[in-house]
Amino acid sequence: MQLKKGEIIEFDVHAMAFGGSGIGKYEGMTVFVDKAMPGDRVKAALTRIKPKFAESKFVEIVKPSPDRVEPKCKYSGKCGGCQLQFMPYKKQVEFKQQNVIDSFERIGKIFDANVLDVIECKEPFYYRNKMEFSFGYDADMQFTLGMHVPGRRFDILDLTECHLESKLSTDILNITRAFMRESEWKPFKYSIGKGFLRALYIREGKRTGEVLVNLVTSDDVPKNFDEEIKKYVDKVSTMSDGDQKVTSIYWTTIISKRGQRRQTKEKVLFGKRFLTEKMILENGDELSFDILPQAFFQVNTYQAELLYQEVLKLATQSTNGTVFDLFCGTGTIGLFLAKHCEKVLGIELNEEAVKAARENAQKNNIFNIDFYVGDATKMLGDIKEFPSLIVVDPPRAGLTENMIKHMNSFNADRIIYVSCNPSTLARDCAWLKEYGYKVKSVQPVDMFPHTYHIENVCLLERD
Ligand SMILES: C[S@@+](CC[C@H](N)C(=O)[O-])C[C@H]1O[C@@H](n2cnc3c(N)ncnc32)[C@H](O)[C@@H]1O
Repeated sequence: MQLKKGEIIEFDVHAMAFGGSGIGKYEGMTVFVDKAMPGDRVKAALTRIKPKFAESKFVEIVKPSPDRVEPKCKYSGKCGGCQLQFMPYKKQVEFKQQNVIDSFERIGKIFDANVLDVIECKEPFYYRNKMEFSFGYDADMQFTLGMHVPGRRFDILDLTECHLESKLSTDILNITRAFMRESEWKPFKYSIGKGFLRALYIREGKRTGEVLVNLVTSDDVPKNFDEEIKKYVDKVSTMSDGDQKVTSIYWTTIISKRGQRRQTKEKVLFGKRFLTEKMILENGDELSFDILPQAFFQVNTYQAELLYQEVLKLATQSTNGTVFDLFCGTGTIGLFLAKHCEKVLGIELNEEAVKAARENAQKNNIFNIDFYVGDATKMLGDIKEFPSLIVVDPPRAGLTENMIKHMNSFNADRIIYVSCNPSTLARDCAWLKEYGYKVKSVQPVDMFPHTYHIENVCLLERD
């Protein structure tokens, strides 16, 4: 039978694919569908037909899976923030672990990767320490402040609740929306490059209770800005909830002119210049970090602690000599390792991140760590030291064959590979296998409940 684009088909979903799509069969053809889980019978509209599989868009549930749960959030299914809230947390975690196993088998052809049970998130809501809300318009051109509607570049869903960061963060969101609507300042329209209000970023120190609010705008500043923004600052700077309170308010201006490099200007309107966050590991090791508004920091503080704990557990067997922390970001992994080894050498492409990493080292009185700015692959070629251990934490794209070749030349017995993408991790482990490194264990850590994302700490050893 010839399938046609747009045709509505009905089928049972029996598995989940990476990316969070449900998988089913229709007329012998594998079909992917969004918003569905194993056990559901769904109706879906075909969107793409390939010789071996088809993709479809969810239309309705004919019979729900007995495992389905009522999502906590009223925007579930409409907002791009969480994709799997209809799935019980235990099932989400099972699906993520299976996905890691499948990636190793299918992509890496590694059938003995020893994928351990996922380290779950104790509190699968209110786990994020950072949210980025956008100002914009909905489909009826009404003023909105919230998240992007999936698949719609310019439509912003007006969110009055969100269970990802905190109650205080939602209160700030709602007060900001009410204030800005009244001020009559206009959201920035990306399609024409006009308007003022672009985004509202809220960062929190989960362990310190500090909250940094960052209002992001264009440089098309309204005439009444100075007097109005004072009122906004007076209102928001007094906001608190339990141990949490607003400690900084920033105003960030983005200047983007056609043909010119985009520029950013930041101004502190209230309070501290940075947000302070702490991380405390099971063994009592504690570090404190000063985070500037745009700086990278792990989004789930408590799970990042567990992730680093895993790295440390694996690392302590090889901490004589120098440890390489490649793709080190703001240096968090290396700084925790430094307390337990002779010396750490961190490499990171982003200059700002390295500046923050050096400041973090100083703030925590850690002096046996050096950070270098540059491309890890190129810089490895110039390093004369031989590490006892190499830790890598690359972006989603993973490593390159060239990078792996360079890593191999150091002859380290062990590699700890921290990865946010099971597919590239599996591919890279297959390359590393060619150089004699065997996967000993893979520890998945769930940093992002209700999404399909999963982080892994993988130990590779040379026999
Ligand atoms: C997943 S983050 C790792 C962050 C860090 N390990 C942490 O836990 O905070 C990946 C980092 O790799 C950096 N990066 C990307 N390409 C790079 C390259 N070619 N050489 C060095 N660093 C790179 C990015 O700037 C980013 O900070």
